[in-house]
Amino acid sequence: MDPINRDRLLRELTDFLRIPSVSTNASHNADCRAAAEWVAGELRRLGCREVEFLASGTHPVVWGVGPEVPGAPTLLIYGHYDVQPPEPLDEWTTPAFEPTVRDGKLFARGAADDKGQVFCLLKAIEAQSGGPPVNFRFLIEGEEEYGSRVLFELLRREPERTRADAVLIADMAYIAPRWPAVYTTLRGLCYAEITVRTAKSDLHSGEFGGAAPNAHEELARLLGRLKTPDGKVHVPGLYASVKRPSKVELATWKRLPFREGEFLKHRVQAKALTGLKSYSVLERLWALPTFEIHGITGGFTGDGAKTVIPAEATAKVSLRLVPDQKLKAVEHQLAAAVRRFAPKHVQASVKFLHGADPATVKVTHPAFKLLDQAFREVVGRGTAPARAGGSIPAVPALGKGGAPVILTGIGLPDDRLHAPNEKLDLKQLWDGIRVFGRFYELLGGMRAG
Ligand code: BES
Ligand code: MN
Ligand code: MN
Repeated sequence: MDPINRDRLLRELTDFLRIPSVSTNASHNADCRAAAEWVAGELRRLGCREVEFLASGTHPVVWGVGPEVPGAPTLLIYGHYDVQPPEPLDEWTTPAFEPTVRDGKLFARGAADDKGQVFCLLKAIEAQSGGPPVNFRFLIEGEEEYGSRVLFELLRREPERTRADAVLIADMAYIAPRWPAVYTTLRGLCYAEITVRTAKSDLHSGEFGGAAPNAHEELARLLGRLKTPDGKVHVPGLYASVKRPSKVELATWKRLPFREGEFLKHRVQAKALTGLKSYSVLERLWALPTFEIHGITGGFTGDGAKTVIPAEATAKVSLRLVPDQKLKAVEHQLAAAVRRFAPKHVQASVKFLHGADPATVKVTHPAFKLLDQAFREVVGRGTAPARAGGSIPAVPALGKGGAPVILTGIGLPDDRLHAPNEKLDLKQLWDGIRVFGRFYELLGGMRAG
């Protein structure tokens, strides 16, 4: 790509990234809409015959149908224009929604997850004069980071939207620099709030301390019981449907460019790794369920000091699920565990916010060979099959029609998704545009299914 074009593309991506489309926060509803409009504008520029907002009760799903190419295969592109909240703000070197290039990297919330990658897929179409010989369909949603409920309901009502020869998703990373990947599983997710109430209202800690129950203390004890110190999630029944990876698969992971020591030192940047020590780190990240506490509220957390016994405390928690666990079953298991572990004098409740089943994709369809070839030609190495620890809730629904779901991406492992100083290496973007351009061209040579 010539330098002038790169300047223009960088300006366009910057415009997209400047929109604070935080889907989980209603105060950003207008921004989510603006990001949807931005995507729709791009689809129109690509010559889409149909560009529509679907399910626009919430953040709209942007649907597009590319120019018709008779006899050519159909490729459905899925991505998301929403982003995670930028907090903690003071840890960003430059503000989250003021995209800035430093040292060949573009820093902004959404640079890698997923606006930068959606941008890459679209610009790879634009880069080919006349457009690639492919019938494109687009589903770019705005609620992925909040569980994709709208899209689920939409696809349940209108499953024909997923009719395609292949589905392409670029919402993940290379396994290491210069090592592109294709993903065979995603973890699922069960996100919940656990609330405990111990009294009618807060109490003076001098008048009542020593004899009244404390909601934070009860919540801490309850949370402590949900995971054993060695890292096993203590939710009865949770592991029953967990399928261990085959010996062959575990052996292929040993050949991936992943070193546990390096992962601790450079990526986690902590003193030690945790979790079930009898499993490799990759197995813990990719093939075992987790339980994480995201935040705890209640009581007094303002400036200064207040002597109070809180009557209520809430923890936001989530479990990651792996094949063959089911979200519905895990919800029941978690609710039962909370009931069982809370003492009688404590009122404990669980509210489920969103979730997703884990996803498994077979990478045997011929389209995977074409992506492998495109990466090989442009980057010098094909796609290593790997698993992902993260979740994309819509993946099982996108694959229901039988099309292979190709999970790949142009990010790098150190992109800091969901964290301060998220970035995208521009070299990854420029390479990515060529990779996907070549993939479209190769796919166009395939006969429609
Ligand atoms: N792009 C990520 C998913 C991802 C990240 C897959 C890293 C593989 C590796 C996606 O945007 C994401 O963050 N999903 C959420 C889904 C949830 C909020 C329902 C996640 O995994 O937390
Ligand atoms: Mn994403
Ligand atoms: Mn994300």
